[in-house]
Amino acid sequence: MKHLIVGGTKGIGRAIVDRLPETDEIFTISRGAFEQKPSHVTHFSLDITKDELPDIEGLESIVYCPGSINLKPIGSLKEEDFLEDFNINVMGAVRSIKKYHRDLKRNNGKIVLFSTVAAKIGMPFHASVAASKSAIEGLTKSLAAELAPSVTVNCISPTVTNTPLASQLLRNDKTKEATAERHPLKRYLEAVEVADLARFLLGETAKNMTGQIIGIDAGMGSIKS
Ligand SMILES: NC(=O)c1ccc[n+]([C@@H]2O[C@H](COP(=O)([O-])OP(=O)(O)OC[C@H]3O[C@@H](n4cnc5c(N)ncnc54)[C@H](OP(=O)(O)O)[C@@H]3O)[C@@H](O)[C@H]2O)c1
Repeated sequence: MKHLIVGGTKGIGRAIVDRLPETDEIFTISRGAFEQKPSHVTHFSLDITKDELPDIEGLESIVYCPGSINLKPIGSLKEEDFLEDFNINVMGAVRSIKKYHRDLKRNNGKIVLFSTVAAKIGMPFHASVAASKSAIEGLTKSLAAELAPSVTVNCISPTVTNTPLASQLLRNDKTKEATAERHPLKRYLEAVEVADLARFLLGETAKNMTGQIIGIDAGMGSIKS
């Protein structure tokens, strides 16, 4: 298969790249370099929110990973914070899909997007990211309807995951323990665990799934414990 993983150099995106078969052709986009890039990966260094996207022929999937965790009380959140969060979480995905959706339609392709458990359960200080990720969930369902029957569009909604994005939340043993403790299953996630779900959504078994928001959240989104 031929994949584009936007944000494939770090965190969950990198774990997805590492878990796809080496026989697949993988294109990645991020602002920085791809450290220790395998030979089946072609990397483009650019900012998905503003730079021109490269022409890539024959794509069969897009996974859009860039996101933000900008946690502040509403009084401290500026209008610019909301716009910045919307740009990276939503508009980058929109730009990617607009650029490549025609090939995806021709190839019975797959789109995987990312939300957060904080779009399902109200959490203090999450107003900006929850607004953007709720938009991603709406985009998922609308595009799933519009691009059916040729393209599936699904969204993964994780809780705290051990990646560079969450490094502040998981900065020491105390915060790690407190984070795990807040979840019914008493754990937070590792990037590879979320990557496995993405890989499932890119595979044959998920061909009957579209328009789904799939929680992987150690119980946080559904259970009170
Ligand atoms: N980690 C969590 O706790 C958590 C929880 C809930 C939801 N999520 C969601 O899961 C998704 C993946 O998160 P993650 O933790 O793996 O993120 P991450 O560690 O920050 O990795 C993000 C990737 O996107 C790239 N990227 C960021 N901004 C970019 C831009 N403007 N242009 C191009 N590439 C850009 C980064 O590379 P460069 O920096 O080099 O550009 C990196 O490769 C996100 O949508 C996030 O909101 C994460």
